[in-house]
Amino acid sequence: MAYLALYRAWRPQRFDEVVGQEQTVIALQNAVRENRLAHAYLFSGPRGTGKTSIAKIVAKAANCEQLQDGEPCNNCSCCQDINNGNFMDVIEIDAASNRGIDEIRDLKEKVRVLPAQGKRKVYIIDEVHMLTMEAFNALLKTLEEPPNSVMFILATTEPQKIPATIRSRCQNYYFRRLTMEEIQGRLVQVAQVNNMEVEAAALDIIARRANGGMRDALSTLDQVNSYRGEYITKTDVLDVLGLVDDVFLAQLIDAAWKGDTGQVLRMLAAALQQGKEAQQIARETTLYLRDLLLYHTTGQDTDLAVATEASLTALQQQKKAGTNRILQALRILADTADKLRFSEGQRFILEMAFLEITALFAQEEPVAPSTSKKPTAAKAAPPAPADTSETTEARDTMWNRILAGVKERKIPTHALLSPGRLLGMKEETVYIGYRKGYKFHKEKMEEKENRGILMEVLQEIAGRIVEVQFVFLDDDQYNDIVVKKAIELFGEDIVEIKD
Ligand SMILES: Nc1ncnc2c1ncn2[C@@H]1O[C@H](COP(=O)(O)OP(=O)(O)OP(=O)(O)O)[C@@H](O)[C@H]1O
Ligand SMILES: [Mg+2]
Ligand SMILES: [Zn+2]
Repeated sequence: MAYLALYRAWRPQRFDEVVGQEQTVIALQNAVRENRLAHAYLFSGPRGTGKTSIAKIVAKAANCEQLQDGEPCNNCSCCQDINNGNFMDVIEIDAASNRGIDEIRDLKEKVRVLPAQGKRKVYIIDEVHMLTMEAFNALLKTLEEPPNSVMFILATTEPQKIPATIRSRCQNYYFRRLTMEEIQGRLVQVAQVNNMEVEAAALDIIARRANGGMRDALSTLDQVNSYRGEYITKTDVLDVLGLVDDVFLAQLIDAAWKGDTGQVLRMLAAALQQGKEAQQIARETTLYLRDLLLYHTTGQDTDLAVATEASLTALQQQKKAGTNRILQALRILADTADKLRFSEGQRFILEMAFLEITALFAQEEPVAPSTSKKPTAAKAAPPAPADTSETTEARDTMWNRILAGVKERKIPTHALLSPGRLLGMKEETVYIGYRKGYKFHKEKMEEKENRGILMEVLQEIAGRIVEVQFVFLDDDQYNDIVVKKAIELFGEDIVEIKD
């Protein structure tokens, strides 16, 4: 027998098999019991929450020959034909397809034709928000004076796109996202029947990532099962979904928190090496920081997006970072995740973001502005320059990479560049400083060819085109002093973005 996807095998066939959606189920089952099903229903709600499933149950209930306390019997020929998709009077229309639109146009005539096989014709129109205005009008005409033998069930994930004229002619039911418990409960049941052994942490992640949709949860379980077999661990799920382990994220933030730049870079390298996507790492860290913030402000461990019990201790510790810094780090990473969507060669961008966060954590947590002051006070206290030895080390690492790239291309250019110093990056421009005595080098580097070589290297590392500016430093000392000079030259902004 052909393999039937889990989510299809587990489509609820009776009202009492539906998980959640209690009000909808009770109302509809009562209507069946009392033989007062409406002519038109609008089911709206997120993907995979039971709209089509319940529409089919209603269609069966409207035609079943042996109703059992408001439930279809699933046994009579009508029920069986509907379950197999062979029932002539249950017509499913996909409004998103061209054929769907044609079918709506023909509706006006077709609805007059009496049911061929059962008691009531049921039109199930999926993705109804996709209909054109013309099709909506055709549908509206039909809904205005529907024959008794016809019933419409419209389903949509985007009810706001349905004209009010249509909505007001339907009985409206809103389908909610299913809870973690509801999804996990079903997963446990499915796993048991299918002889799968699924770690609790694995179930937790599947349920969480399904975001309230049962279909996605079952599809993930299916996918992990066919990929890893019957024994399913948390790591299996993370791998299949391309996610990053929350314990890894906790350790990464720990390393940043401790200012251990080397460790941060090593961990990022290892994750990329394992095939995790840079964007995913940024995104997941954003979610982790969001959890940290939530945990910090509410002290609750419910509704966490990625942190699980395994990372709770770390979360507890990292609260020390304070709201402001967590928020800032969150913004840096959210921006980075955004940037990473559009560029290849992303390692540099990811590293930059994490180095920036490391620098950020090295700063004092700014004191919250007193209530008497306007929120603009926060802006008046810019982050202090974080010229710690860690950020210097990070900048050196980056500078060495740039120098190596230039050296590979042209040794004389490397000789001109190497007395310079990487100051930082502001907007899309990388700033490189020279001491006063290096006027020749600076001017040579500004020439088209040398500049071009450097920009090529920067582009390769950054994964996008960046500008470069050479500036003079009027101090003989390097390292931390360079950063201070950079502040003088460009204002605090530039120092905010380290290496
Ligand atoms: N409330 C639920 N109870 C039990 N299983 C559910 C529920 N909702 C969805 N499922 C599972 O997900 C599958 C898909 O559900 P269904 O087709 O009813 O979703 P839908 O709301 O119509 O989604 P879409 O908006 O994507 O069409 C079902 O076959 C079933 O396995
Ligand atoms: Mg559906
Ligand atoms: Zn039946």
